Amino acid sequence: MTNLQNDLFLRACKRQPIERTPIWMMRQAGRYLPEYRAVREKADFLTMCKTPELAAEVTIQPIDLIGVDAAILFSDILVIPEAMGMTLEMHEGKGPVFHRPIRNEEDAKELKSIDPTVDLKYVLDAVSLTKKELNGRVPLIGFSGSPWTLLTYMVEGRGSKNFAEVKKLIYNNPVLAHKLLGKISDIVADYLSAKIEAGCNAVQVFDTWGGILTPDDFNEFSLQYIQSIISKIKRTNEPVIVFAKGVHYNIEGIAGTGADVIGLDWTMDLGEVRKLIGNKVALQGNLDPTKLYGSEEVIKNEASKILQSYGKGSGHIFNLGHGILPDVPPANAKLLVDFVKEESKKYH
Ligand code: CP3
Repeated sequence: MTNLQNDLFLRACKRQPIERTPIWMMRQAGRYLPEYRAVREKADFLTMCKTPELAAEVTIQPIDLIGVDAAILFSDILVIPEAMGMTLEMHEGKGPVFHRPIRNEEDAKELKSIDPTVDLKYVLDAVSLTKKELNGRVPLIGFSGSPWTLLTYMVEGRGSKNFAEVKKLIYNNPVLAHKLLGKISDIVADYLSAKIEAGCNAVQVFDTWGGILTPDDFNEFSLQYIQSIISKIKRTNEPVIVFAKGVHYNIEGIAGTGADVIGLDWTMDLGEVRKLIGNKVALQGNLDPTKLYGSEEVIKNEASKILQSYGKGSGHIFNLGHGILPDVPPANAKLLVDFVKEESKKYH
């Protein structure tokens, strides 16, 4: 299917036969690795994103150090609003901040229309360089935020507890909300197509804030846009993964978007979800990331339960239910990866 030395991840995405379950971890290129922190000490976060050599270096670190079966390009979902003209600051401990959030038509007018092949060329350069340096060892995953999750950050300006501002927008000015979501969707579709063109073997859409909506609002403000993006992405056989955190109430809807793989958070039982949609899509997940604070025994037990819950056969990609936390010992991550590689053989 590909000239990759290890294509287990891609075969699992397509529910084709495999010898063991592949594993990677969301946020695997990040602060829990001392090797990442060493690079980060020399450059700020956005400089790292914009320097292909640095992005490629930290993307490959977890392949060498932890042994995961796929690489995910080091970047951020917020490079899109940044390219549209919003000034992005990354605050240590506080996360990303936009000082001039988008709250009304006037603000929205300031947003530039962008062409990802030009305005986000540095990401595509990072893809090409990473592919070259990976040299076929494992597949490379590219990603984007969903339109809804991107809009949330653009309107709130920062992480939020109640999401009051973005909810005011969708309830009081749905016309503007849909206009912005449509504009972001077109960019995301072009961006993911360009990443595939540059060499990504799969793409993942992160809808981190899908779960703050009611089921109806999720369909109206998030799901329909994800579906439209998937229908527009130019690809040959590259799988699309949709990870919508907290959207246990509409897993079937997500499976109907045309996605090949559905990412699950840890609040759902993998076996139950497989019964519901496992004949349509592959499933990715779903170890609670805090289980990696546990002892060797805890980690192995929890990983076993997940493998057992999915059961025999292809179509499962082991992952965490959300990103790995910055204070997890790298040895625990390695232990999980080694264990899943060995233990999963009996299910294939
Ligand atoms: O998975 C990977 O290893 C690839 C890299 C990646 C990053 N961000 C690097 C990063 C990915 C896939 C993302 C996606 C992302 N970014 C999401 C969706 C996934 C999710 O976790 O829900 C979101 C919501 C963001 C926005 C964002 N960027 C936040 C909330 C933060 C701060 C949180 C934190 O961990 O501090 C970032 C910064 C960020 N993105 C870091 C990394 C490694 C930490 C920055 C640093 O080094 O100081």
